[in-house]
Amino acid sequence: MIKHPRGPFAAGDQVQLTDPKGRQHRLVLAPGRSFHTHRGALAHDDLIGRPEGSLVTSAGGTAYLAFRPLLADYSISMVRGAAVVYPKDAAQIVGLADIFPGAHVVEAGAGSGALSCWLLRAVGEHGSVTSFERRSDFAEIAAANVERYFGGPHPAWRLIVGELDAAGITGVDRVVLDMLAPWDHAAAAAAMLMPGGLACCYVATVTQLARTVGALREQGNFAEPAAWETLQRGWHVDGLAVRPEHRMVGHTGFLVTARRLADGVVAPPRRRRPSKGAEAAAAEADAAAAEAAGADAAAAADPAHGAYESSGRNGTEADDREG
Ligand SMILES: C[S@@+](CC[C@H](N)C(=O)[O-])C[C@H]1O[C@@H](n2cnc3c(N)ncnc32)[C@H](O)[C@@H]1O
Repeated sequence: MIKHPRGPFAAGDQVQLTDPKGRQHRLVLAPGRSFHTHRGALAHDDLIGRPEGSLVTSAGGTAYLAFRPLLADYSISMVRGAAVVYPKDAAQIVGLADIFPGAHVVEAGAGSGALSCWLLRAVGEHGSVTSFERRSDFAEIAAANVERYFGGPHPAWRLIVGELDAAGITGVDRVVLDMLAPWDHAAAAAAMLMPGGLACCYVATVTQLARTVGALREQGNFAEPAAWETLQRGWHVDGLAVRPEHRMVGHTGFLVTARRLADGVVAPPRRRRPSKGAEAAAAEADAAAAEAAGADAAAAADPAHGAYESSGRNGTEADDREG
């Protein structure tokens, strides 16, 4: 049984220490061990048995606030193979893709396992998350990250190393695709989903977005897709100096959701006719997306890239994301 750690710190707990400058350090509590910084050592035993939110002081006199990391903290600091879903988007996926306790979810690709953790937490032990990952090295990282987060194997998780394959999978409530070419899997998503189920795709670029929405429409088994992005802007609140932060996570990705129609139901005609030139623009977007997919496949094959993809963007969480 998965038990979310609560109460006083215990051996084996992950702890996040924050120093007065806001710098964070992570450790796993072990009796008799010490945590060393250039500001002196801190005995793990000083934390074990104390409540979360305690203040501990290193031998050098620096005070650290101690909490267990939130999943948002954990997921952005864990070991990565592929780029992880940023917490603001994971929150949108769990909320607006309506991942509910007991749901049966299929996910591809697992990547580093960040979204797998969010999905598993949302479905709980009585649901299921089946995650496909075609790269065995990434699958290993995902497995380690998920196990570390839950403190052992999660009973609701099945990780399949290989291409997303709908064969033998039916009656699924949600299909969540975070991969280079979700449009190739619109038919697979439709085959797996039960009527009323929902496909959710997370893509990095506008061309991917256009192609994904187009594929879901063409598939014919889905109601009209919804597409959006989320911008999260932090605020600096200090006395009368109350203003937006200078920096923000400007772009991570776009989300697309579409509900599975009942078998035999034809998608109703869209209320608004496509605007003039929309078809030509869609064809152009398809060509651009195909070209981008080719470039990414080449980047993925190049071990010099470390991670498997390169978007050419700098300085965002999405740097090593597909697209
Ligand atoms: C951006 S990463 C996913 C990150 C993941 N959501 C996370 O939060 O850690 C995309 C992953 O999809 C995998 N992938 C791409 N196409 C796939 C397919 N057809 N079947 C299985 N995995 C696929 C890639 O190998 C890559 O690891």
